[in-house]
Amino acid sequence: MEEGGNGRRVCVTGAGGYVASWLIKLLLSHGYKVHGTVRDPSDKKNAHLKRLGNALENLQLFKADLLDCDSILGAAAGCEGVFHVASPVPATKVPNPEVQVISPAVSGTLNVLKACSTLRIKRVVVVSSSAAVALKPDWPKGKVMDEECWSDREYCRITENWYCLSKTLAEAEALEYSKEHNLDVVTLCPSTVLGPLLQPTVNSSSLFLINILKGLRQSKENSVYHIVDVRDVADALLLVYEKPEASGRYICTNHPIKVRELIDTLRSMYPNYNYPNNLIEVDNDYALTSEKLKKLGWKCRPLKETLVDSVEYYEEAGLLNN
Ligand SMILES: NC(=O)c1ccc[n+]([C@@H]2O[C@H](COP(=O)([O-])OP(=O)(O)OC[C@H]3O[C@@H](n4cnc5c(N)ncnc54)[C@H](OP(=O)(O)O)[C@@H]3O)[C@@H](O)[C@H]2O)c1
Repeated sequence: MEEGGNGRRVCVTGAGGYVASWLIKLLLSHGYKVHGTVRDPSDKKNAHLKRLGNALENLQLFKADLLDCDSILGAAAGCEGVFHVASPVPATKVPNPEVQVISPAVSGTLNVLKACSTLRIKRVVVVSSSAAVALKPDWPKGKVMDEECWSDREYCRITENWYCLSKTLAEAEALEYSKEHNLDVVTLCPSTVLGPLLQPTVNSSSLFLINILKGLRQSKENSVYHIVDVRDVADALLLVYEKPEASGRYICTNHPIKVRELIDTLRSMYPNYNYPNNLIEVDNDYALTSEKLKKLGWKCRPLKETLVDSVEYYEEAGLLNN
């Protein structure tokens, strides 16, 4: 794939979401023409997209649902590449995981890939997650998890971790489909994504940090989180799209940090928030590597910059008011 948009057309699913909005901003700034899919183009939660630089000329929104193949075909027609970003990311437990999480993730991904085959799309970038990598209790302790590591489906089921199961099944199906149908598919597995928001609604990963700042975090466990900046995720998505040699899966992560250390870092910069205390020690650390992505040329910003930009955005947007 050549570098730079030069008016070339790509489609982004779930355009109004957190990651997709930053990706579209980046694509537009690189001269791409973008077809964005949203479930309801008239919903004001998608209005920010039209205010992005170059959007008036180069962004077209299409009404599409992942479970409706024809709507995806219509949106991706005329595009040379597709970024499949849409997938349910529930912030809390859902009553019907099969319908609300698993089916849109798995059948939705297959529908997108079938549409891409029909349209002879040159490359499809599927956004997976470290949730499809790291839920693997029998991975040797201390061994860094790389792209060879897949979350254990049975373990996801037993622990009712439906989001992890949905991402694991969807990514595995995508790579399998790629082999069987000779479609160029690359997957990216970001860890917990933070950074400022472009969209007016609050997505699940941003809520994680907002809840820490508001002292509302339900879990008291001092677990490890792997944080990556949303702008670095957008860069990674464009990189794996444009680099001809990109193939297979890529873990996209930057900073492992335990909750206590995260709170201490935040407290040193913003002492006046009501941070959770009395954390319980747990022994569930794991390490992830993004060496493969870095070898392709990916660079990422320091954690402090992500945290400062996030908190300043939340403050300005009034998201930290009780
Ligand atoms: N944020 C993270 O920490 C993180 C980490 C790793 C991977 N990811 C992945 O990144 C992608 C984007 O997540 P995000 O954090 O940006 O979350 P988000 O803001 O909630 O975006 C999810 C998007 O998916 C769309 N969607 C869900 N179900 C759909 C359906 N049936 N048909 C059409 N669209 C549907 C949503 O549309 P509506 O607005 O219409 O609901 C929304 O635009 C997901 O694939 C997620 O698994 C996120």
